[in-house]
Amino acid sequence: MKKIIVIIMVLALCIMAISCGNHMVSHEETVRTQEPASGKNIVIGFSQLGAESDWRSANTESMKSTFTAENGYEMIFEDGQQKQSNQITAIRMFIQQEVDYIVLAPVTEKGWDTVLQEAKDAGIPVIIVDRMVDVSDENLFTCWVGSNFELEGKKATEWLNQYIKKEGISPEDIHIVNIQGTLGASAQIGRTKGLADAARAHGWDLLAEVNGDFTQAKGREVMKSLLTLYHNINVVYCENDNEAFGAIEAIEAAGGKVGSDLKNGEIMVISFDGVKEKAMSYTLEDKISCIAECNPLHGPRVKAIIDLLESGGTPDKFYYVDEEIFSANKAVTKLSIDGTEYDVTLLTQEIIDDRNQ
Ligand code: AHR
Repeated sequence: MKKIIVIIMVLALCIMAISCGNHMVSHEETVRTQEPASGKNIVIGFSQLGAESDWRSANTESMKSTFTAENGYEMIFEDGQQKQSNQITAIRMFIQQEVDYIVLAPVTEKGWDTVLQEAKDAGIPVIIVDRMVDVSDENLFTCWVGSNFELEGKKATEWLNQYIKKEGISPEDIHIVNIQGTLGASAQIGRTKGLADAARAHGWDLLAEVNGDFTQAKGREVMKSLLTLYHNINVVYCENDNEAFGAIEAIEAAGGKVGSDLKNGEIMVISFDGVKEKAMSYTLEDKISCIAECNPLHGPRVKAIIDLLESGGTPDKFYYVDEEIFSANKAVTKLSIDGTEYDVTLLTQEIIDDRNQ
């Protein structure tokens, strides 16, 4: 009888051990199913700030079409919907998921120290894309790639400066409003500074700076109220194309005419980005007088950085993208800014067609 009891106990122990083993296997499988199908793909957690503009859509598309499974990546995409708190949550999730790289397109510059320290402690490289972060220690991120937003502002305002000189218009006759982008975002800070500095230097009448959130709806809304507040506006500086589209709608709805003919009462619209055909076509039609380019195609640029890191290289800390300035008006062909000459690209339908291919 004793023997039978011992045999039963041994059998029971074996069954427990097998079921416990099965449990471990199934846990491992659960973990494994979260890994990329090939088991070799590089996993990227991308925290995009939102979907406010045509530029942003083009930027998201560039990232998604670059970091594909065919190219050897798995990209976990999180839309922050313009909220830094959502982006911080996304980064913490990426850390928990032990991604290989975190790519962050930050909505505003400040407030990233803590979460970037957490990513650093977890040993995950962070690549900042588009707007910058303003952190106490630059070692909290690996590198940054994006635009020189202040230079964009300088280009747009120098174009205006040259244009009114050619037209024989006095600087004090320039009554300008600034529809700003999301306050605290690098693109807003740089472009706003570009205009404020130029207005001060040239003596333009900067009537107002209002937040347009980089969206068409807000651009239209704030332009409508600016037109009721100020009756002498002759230049509208829009910090992106979507705001420009909204401002143009508001000006036309109020019975105004947009264009570069300031002497005959037209209201000049200046913009940034130049992403989609609409902004370029508006420039060709002289609804937008000039656009300082902001290039959104960062996917291949981020990939080049990751390729370099994967091969053991050390990327530069900051990568600035080369950008153009577009106008269909022949008045200004060259700009000189801080000792560097920039050609103004005279826009034609051919150039637009090439850019959209
Ligand atoms: O940070 C880049 C800016 O953000 C682009 O100019 C704008 O269109 C976008 O929303």
